[in-house]
Amino acid sequence: MRIVWKPYALAVLVTLAGVAITRATWPVFSIAPFAPVFGAVAVATHWGNGRAGLLAIALAVAGIALAFPSTPGFPWNPVSFAGFAAIALIGSRLIDGRNRATAALHAREAELRATLENVRASEERVRRAQKMEAVGQLAAGVAHNFNNLLQVTLGYTDVLLDNARDDHQRHAVTEIRSATERGAALTRQLMAFGRQHEPSVVRVDLDATVSRLHDMLARLVREDIDLRLTLEGRGAVVVLDPSDFEQIVINLVINARDAMPAGGRIEVTTDTVAVGRDGVANAGHAPPGDYGRLRVVDNGTGMSADVQAHLFEPFFTTKEVGEGTGLGLSIALGVAIAHGGALELRPTAKGACFQLTLPARPAPVAVSRDGVSV
Ligand SMILES: Nc1ncnc2c1ncn2[C@@H]1O[C@H](COP(=O)(O)OP(=O)(O)OP(=O)(O)O)[C@@H](O)[C@H]1O
Ligand SMILES: [Mg+2]
Repeated sequence: MRIVWKPYALAVLVTLAGVAITRATWPVFSIAPFAPVFGAVAVATHWGNGRAGLLAIALAVAGIALAFPSTPGFPWNPVSFAGFAAIALIGSRLIDGRNRATAALHAREAELRATLENVRASEERVRRAQKMEAVGQLAAGVAHNFNNLLQVTLGYTDVLLDNARDDHQRHAVTEIRSATERGAALTRQLMAFGRQHEPSVVRVDLDATVSRLHDMLARLVREDIDLRLTLEGRGAVVVLDPSDFEQIVINLVINARDAMPAGGRIEVTTDTVAVGRDGVANAGHAPPGDYGRLRVVDNGTGMSADVQAHLFEPFFTTKEVGEGTGLGLSIALGVAIAHGGALELRPTAKGACFQLTLPARPAPVAVSRDGVSV
C-alpha cells in the first residue's frame, strides 16, 4: 500500500534515519557507506512519491556532508557525492516510473470494471424492458377482446335494468353492472399497460398538478393517515400525459396507504434536481440534466428484500386477490422511462420512499389553472 499522506515527512524521517545509521555504524559498512541512504531514497520514493525521493536525495547529500566532516576513510569528496546522487536519482526515477505505471494500470482496471458493470446493468434493463413489452402486448390483446365482451354484458344489464320487475331484480342487476364496470376498469388498465407510450408533448406543471390532486388524495387516504404536501418544484415543467402522471401519483399514494394498516404519515414532495451534476448520483441511469422530482414517502411497513426485488414487475402484488393487479408500479415505471425519466425505490429508515424523476423543461409562458399547458 502506498502512503499518500505526508510523503515529504516520510522522506525527512527515513533520510535522517539513514544518515544516523550510516554515522552510528561507521566504519562497519565502509565498503558501501551510502547503502542506508540509498535505502532511504528508495523508501521515500516507493511509499511517498517521486518528489519525496528527490527531497530524500538532497537531504542525504547534505546530511552525510554534515555528519562526516573530513572523517578519515569516508568518501566525502565531491566525486563520490555526485556519484551517489546520480545513482540515487536513476534508482528513484525507476521506482517512481514503476509506481506510476502500476497506478495507471489500476485506474484502467477500475475503469474497465465500471464499464463492464454498466454494460451488465444495461443488458438487465433491456431484458426487463423486453419482458415487460411481451407481457404488455399479451395482456393488452387479451384485455381488448375481454373488454368487448364486457361492453356487451353492460349493454344487456342496461336492458335488464329497464325491464326489472321489482327491487330485488333491480338490485341483482345493479350488482352485476357494478362488477362488470370494475372489470372494464381493470381491462382499461391492462390496455394502458400494453400501450406503446409515445412521448407526449403536453407540458405539466409539477406543483400545480400535484396540488390539484390534493383533495382527491386526501379522500383516498384514511383519517388515521396524515397526508402532507411540500411543493418546491418552483415552476418545473415536465412533459407527459397528465392522466398518466396523475395515475402514477395516485398509485404511489394508495400503495403507501395500503402499507399503513395502523395509520401513519405520507409525505408527497416535489422539487428539482440536477442529475449527474453537483454530486447528485445518477441512480436512474438518466442522462445528466435538470429533472423535476416527485417523492412519495411513507412510514408504513416497508418491504422485504424479496418484495423489493420484484416490485416493478408486472402483476407482482402482495395484496389479496381482487385488491391489487400488481400493475401500478410497472405501468408507472414504463411511463417514466418512456419520457426519459426514472422511478426508483430510495433508501429510507422506515417505510418506503418512491422517487419519480422526469426531465424538466423550460417553464411555458402561461400555465392554465389546472397546471396543464400545450
Ligand atoms: N409504499 C409501499 N410500502 C410497502 N410496500 C409497497 C409500497 N408500494 C408498493 N409496495 C409493494 O409493491 C407491490 C406492487 O405494487 P403495485 O402498485 O405495482 O401493485 P399493487 O398496488 O399490488 O396493485 P395495483 O397498483 O394494481 O392496485 C405491492 O403489492 C406491495 O407489496
Ligand atoms: Mg398499487
